[in-house]
Amino acid sequence: MLRKFRMLLWGLVALLVVGVGTMALIRPGGGDGGSSGAGDGAGAVLVGGPFELVDGEGRTVTDRDFRGEPFAIFFGFTHCPDVCPTSLYEMAGWIEALGAAADDMRFAFVTVDPERDTPERLAVYVGSFSEAIIPLTGTRAQIDAVLDAYRVYARKVPLDGDDYTMDHSAFVYLMGADGRYRAHIPYGESAERAVAELEKLLLSS
Ligand code: NI
Repeated sequence: MLRKFRMLLWGLVALLVVGVGTMALIRPGGGDGGSSGAGDGAGAVLVGGPFELVDGEGRTVTDRDFRGEPFAIFFGFTHCPDVCPTSLYEMAGWIEALGAAADDMRFAFVTVDPERDTPERLAVYVGSFSEAIIPLTGTRAQIDAVLDAYRVYARKVPLDGDDYTMDHSAFVYLMGADGRYRAHIPYGESAERAVAELEKLLLSS
């Protein structure tokens, strides 16, 4: 109960961050005639950016490797009791629902807990949900940089003994083929709406 409440609370915090970010971080448009819609040229929300991480096989992966196809990116950790396994399970369902169209985009899961989530551990965990989801970890500095770029909230919470858990925001960010933010899917979104968002992303990229 308490955990659920805390999750809800952090969901709201994350929503606020995204909301404020959306308002505060819109870059002025290129002056294309006063259109202020969310379309091309109107502005770009500054969620996303350069990153350098390590995949499940220990290879370096950067944002440049993700260019050319849209992608969905989610942040979590393997010790997560409920939000991450649920999200990964749902994402695997979206991939299945998209069918062949899923091959035209990428899906990635980035750990917020690189101290415990080694490439091997993360690969086994994420692979148990879907082989199509790319597991990404890195050094603490690499992870901090990507969390910062994607405006992801993550905080270590001590448990009994030496144990700890992580509070973290739980959005799936949808990024265009140019690496720029397009939309996000909130935690608990219906499969129907999530898949519709992904199809929209595929059409617009
Ligand atoms: Ni989680």
